[in-house]
Amino acid sequence: GPYFYIGGGNGGHLVEDLLVRMGWLRIHDKNREDFKLKWVETKNHINYYCFKEGEQLVNRIPNNAILTTKIGLLNSLREYERVMAKVKKGRYCRHLKMGDFFPESFRLDVRDDREAFFNTYQEGETWICKPTGMNRGRGIFFISSQEEVTALQERLEMMTQNRQRARLPFKGPMARIIQRYVNKPLLLDGKKFDIRVYMLIACTNPYVVMYHPGYVRLCVQDYSAEDLNVTAHLTNQWIQKKDPNYEEVKDETVWSMEHLNDYINETLADDKGLPQDWVFNGLTRRMKDIMLHCFHSVRHKIQCRLGYFDLYGIDFLLDEDMKVYLLEINVNPALHTNCEVLQDVIPPLVEETVNVSLDTFEKSRKNQSILPLTSMKNFQIIYNGDPSLHLPKIPPARGP
Ligand SMILES: Nc1ncnc2c1ncn2[C@@H]1O[C@H](COP(=O)(O)OP(=O)(O)O)[C@@H](O)[C@H]1O
Ligand SMILES: [Mg+2]
Repeated sequence: GPYFYIGGGNGGHLVEDLLVRMGWLRIHDKNREDFKLKWVETKNHINYYCFKEGEQLVNRIPNNAILTTKIGLLNSLREYERVMAKVKKGRYCRHLKMGDFFPESFRLDVRDDREAFFNTYQEGETWICKPTGMNRGRGIFFISSQEEVTALQERLEMMTQNRQRARLPFKGPMARIIQRYVNKPLLLDGKKFDIRVYMLIACTNPYVVMYHPGYVRLCVQDYSAEDLNVTAHLTNQWIQKKDPNYEEVKDETVWSMEHLNDYINETLADDKGLPQDWVFNGLTRRMKDIMLHCFHSVRHKIQCRLGYFDLYGIDFLLDEDMKVYLLEINVNPALHTNCEVLQDVIPPLVEETVNVSLDTFEKSRKNQSILPLTSMKNFQIIYNGDPSLHLPKIPPARGP
């Protein structure tokens, strides 16, 4: 059978099990170029110069940082907003406004942008400051008074001068965004939570982009708007694991989407004026719309070659008014199964990711239409660039 290579532990054994069952052979040398599929955690296992388009598959799009770093995503969304404002001037437009789903954000590594933040900040507000290329809640801090803003301003000013003196590029500690904090999050049993769902770019030539439901991550501790401690405010598992009670309650910190739906049906729907099963209708629709908007913002910039696919983990937050916020798009989302719910969600997700990506790859190679996709089960297509769907309609022939 064909060869495959796996680099890194994150979900790798799930991919291995699947491919071995299909009769594929695993190779361990990352420099061998005779693989059919490479599944890696980090791009440095992939030599894009040797990549054989249409013959091989790799699970990383080389320039995915335009979606998956915090600065990258902010730039992409802003630029798309600028372009759309020009294109749609005066015309009726259905597309989302960035401000409706993305908390107001500024870059700290760009002078004009950080000045804009210093002018925007109002005493008493809380903002959250996040490093661009990190994850798991690492390196995050809060700003919640004018005093802290001034201190930040001075720190940044000093860094800028030191860097200019040393002629260093403006990177490293300054590569951060500062974002308006959603300080009235919806709570589940008194706890803050966020929602992890998935976006799969199954194919880049043509584009096939999909949504997959995920799970809900709750904090161990009760939420308090006044007490800005990270354990009650950052929902990342990595942060929650540090809580001494984590081992005891860990299965309560991860809910399935069905659990969230039941909870909202029973305890919130009346209060908030929501129809039953809002999670699988209104909320899902909204998350898909936001995801599609993000995809459109980079659609013409992504490096497309047949054989690239990429699975992203997307973090959404809900506030008390059931408003849906996009927090970030993660490359290499955690595929561990250390909680009960994750054992149900992750293995089928990984298998379907591989199956669907192989399926679209083979169809594109053979010039077949992408649909129907029998390998698709829990994924839902949000964008299908199959050219046969977009052929101009031929007007009916006129009679003599
Ligand atoms: N603007 C915000 N308002 C409220 N909570 C936020 C906001 N941004 C992030 N958080 C919380 O912090 C966590 C980590 O933020 P995130 O942007 O996902 O960075 P990381 O890459 O470190 O996971 C989120 O899961 C969420 O719980
Ligand atoms: Mg995150």
